[in-house]
Formats: sequence, structure tokens, C-alpha cells
Amino acid sequence: MSHSQVSYRYMQSVLDYLKQHQDRSVGELCQYLRFASVSAQPQHKKDLVACAEWLVAHCRKIGLDARICLTDGHPIVVAKTKRDQGASKPHFMVYGHYDVQPPEPLDLWTTPPFEPRIEGRNLFARGSTDNKGQNFAHLKAVEAYLKTGTPLPCDLTFVIEGEEEVGSKCLSGFLKQNRNELACDAVVISDTGMPDLQHPALTYALRGIIAFEITLRGPARDLHSGIFGGAVENPAMALAQLLAQVRDPLGFIQIPGFYEDVVPLSSYERMEYRRFPLKDGQLKKLLGSPELFGEHGFTPTEQRSARPTFEINGLTSGYQGEGSKTIVPAWARAKITCRLVPDQNPAHIRKIVCDWLKAHCPSTVRLEITAGHGAEAYHVSPQGAPARAALRALEKAFGTKPILMREGGSIPIVNEFKKILGADSLLLGLGLPDDNAHSPNEKFNLDCFAGGQRLSAYLWRELSSSTS
Ligand code: BES
Ligand code: ZN
Repeated sequence: MSHSQVSYRYMQSVLDYLKQHQDRSVGELCQYLRFASVSAQPQHKKDLVACAEWLVAHCRKIGLDARICLTDGHPIVVAKTKRDQGASKPHFMVYGHYDVQPPEPLDLWTTPPFEPRIEGRNLFARGSTDNKGQNFAHLKAVEAYLKTGTPLPCDLTFVIEGEEEVGSKCLSGFLKQNRNELACDAVVISDTGMPDLQHPALTYALRGIIAFEITLRGPARDLHSGIFGGAVENPAMALAQLLAQVRDPLGFIQIPGFYEDVVPLSSYERMEYRRFPLKDGQLKKLLGSPELFGEHGFTPTEQRSARPTFEINGLTSGYQGEGSKTIVPAWARAKITCRLVPDQNPAHIRKIVCDWLKAHCPSTVRLEITAGHGAEAYHVSPQGAPARAALRALEKAFGTKPILMREGGSIPIVNEFKKILGADSLLLGLGLPDDNAHSPNEKFNLDCFAGGQRLSAYLWRELSSSTS
């Protein structure tokens, strides 16, 4: 038998295994989804530890060397294929996260967020698409290699963290401490999306981010709005007026210098964007907004992946309960994030935004700004050998030609993989646009789950031959 025939046989047994064990894999994913691993909420600290412990036990069961690494925050799970002594194989890292976004508002869920439910080909639960389902697909593929005795052409290390949704605070220190162990040829990440099942995708750019909170304080306590209203600043009104100046009616941010370093889209990219399968009408319907909105002269696809934004994530002030309460609130607060694109520098943008807010805040209120996490945008060549290997694996796994795309979400740690480990990240997302990531009724499509397992199975062969 020729080398390629042997390799085909091996591949077939891996694919057969995945198919035969699909129901069990879905059942195990449901167990994984039962942990309420909400990294933002301190009351779930124990759930994160329990989830990490479950993951370590599962990795051991499928034949990996796994350990839990405690940090100042939530634990990191590291799981490795057993290394052949003396053999020098390519080494790839698979990165994912087991933490999830807060599930609130709970009343909008059809069934509770941590009680997985299958309806048709969809598996509903918080964390199903972001990111447990996606990283579990890679674990199932490596299980298929190990359980069928199929030799892996590379060494693999899984790093699955518990703080991605809150800015990956401890992971960069961990990468620095374990630089030698984690040095690798590339990092593989399935934590992004694909337009639909007919269009598997390689994402070659992500947006960066800065997060902060602003609080405007007025009177020392909530006041009777009849007795004092009119003679004292209303902090909620001051906040609304301040924030309203940030954007003009055409959608452009009015903070001087905000766009200064933005790399304009090339005409080639703009042309490619027109072929993107999710059309504006479909997007409008999916989002349920009466109209789409964005910077004049840019398409919605361009806006949500390659243009910077200033977004209010939350606004709080005054009385929020039932009925009315006639007060002038003592304070008003906004949670804000800006999405950034190449070559915007997060520290610089943070400074010009904060300076602008200070300069425009009226003296009738006191302004407090609390800085949150930040990360620069990411961009990797879609023409390099690893990217081309990934495109071949995507095509084999999904049976159709993959597309190249940029996405608007952020995975801050990819920049650290490059800086600390010297490794590029291959972003091979399995999420669909209607998966409701970060929203109520999050789901993961089981065909994406199965396709992701096949992708991972093909990927190690394609990648290993491209690096050797
Ligand atoms: N999976 C997302 C990132 C993502 C989603 C990238 C869709 C591209 C397309 C990830 O879990 C996430 O939500 N990241 C946060 C990062 C933030 C908390 C620093 C984000 O983008 O809001
Ligand atoms: Zn997320």
C-alpha cells in the first residue's frame, strides 16, 4: 500500500469513530454545559473550578496528560498528547475557553441556560457555541485518533482557560511562565463564526477592544424631583447629553483622532466583502431591528468587522423598579467598550476618549472613569502555509469551498500568543450568525459540532505536512 493509501485508511477510521460516537459526544457536551461557569460573577467561582476539574478528568479519560493550573483568577486547563521520546514533531496548541457570559436576562430563555436542551439540530445552553461546543469538537477529534490507535503527525497541547469573557487577565502571565512548554508552530482556535453551513470560514482578522465605565455624580443623595428638580443637575440627563455628542447622525465618532490610525480597507477587501453570503436584508431580519445603522458609506459587513465603534453596553441611573418614583438621581453610570481595528493603539485611544469625556463633561457633575481591559486588533496573512493547510481541511470537512473573512469580536490573547510564543493563530470558527452568543437562548448547531470534529481530524495532517 502507498503512503497515501495508508493515510487514507487511518483517516477513515478516525472519521468512522467520530460518526459512531456522535450521540455519546453530544451527551458529554451536555454534561460540560451543565456547569454555570460564569467568569464575571463571583458567586460562580466554585462552578468554574468544578467545570475545570470535569474537563481535566475528561481529557484524562480520552488519553491526554491533563492538569489544572490554579491562578489568581479562574483555573487554566492544560492537556497534552503523550510525547514520543526523541521524536521531533510539529507542535500545535488548541486554545479555547470554558467560561461563559452571564445568562441574564433569565426570563427570556425558553428553558434554563444551564439545562441543555436539544431541538432539531440545535443544542441550547449558555456557552454552547461560545465556547464549550467549539473546543469540545477538537477534544473529540483527538479522542478519535487516540482511541483508534491512529498516529498523530504532531504534538498537541490544549489550553482551555476560564477568563476569556473577562479579558484573560491571568493567561498572559501563564504563557510567560510556561513559554518553553507552550512554544508551538501555530495556535488553533475555534471561537469565531462561519456565515452558514455551506460556507466554512477562516477568519484572518479580529477587532481589538477597550473597556471602561464612567460615572457622573451630582447631588449627595437621590432628591425629591418636585422640591429640588430644576435647580440641580440631573446626572442621568448630563450623561445622556455627554454620550449623545460622541456620535454624529451619519454614524461617525466625533472624538478628534479616533480614526487617525485606522488602516483603510483595500479595494480588494471591499470587493471580497460584496461576496459575503449573509446579505443586508437577512442581517436586518436576524437582528430584529427596524433598520440597520452605521457609518455612512460603509456596508454593514464592513462596519461590523473592519470599522471601529464606540458602544454603550449598559446604562444605569435612578429608579428602575415598577411604577414611578419622582427623584433626581444622585448618579448615572455607563459601561462602554470601543472596538478597535488595525492600527489603532488601545492605550492611545483610551487616552483620547477619556480626555474628550473630561473636557466635555459639565461642571455640574463629577466625572469618574474606571478603566477595564484592552487589546489591540489582530491580523494574520491568509496566504501563509498554515492558513492554506487550514483551508484544505475546512473544505474536506464541510465539503464546500471555505471563505476568508474578518470578524468584529475580540480574542485578546491572540496578540500574546504572537508576542510571547511567536505563534500565529488560525481562527476556524464553528458558530453560526443565529447562535445567540452572549444573548438569551444561545445554541450550537450539531452539524457544526460534527463538522468541527472532522475539521480537527483533517487539520493535524494538513498542518503537519505544511510545516515540515
Ligand atoms: N467568541 C468570542 C469572540 C468572537 C466572537 C470573535 C465572534 C469573533 C466573532 C469571545 O468569547 C468573546 O466574546 N470575546 C469578548 C472579548 C472581551 C470580553 C475582551 C468580546 O469580543 O466581547
Ligand atoms: Zn464570548
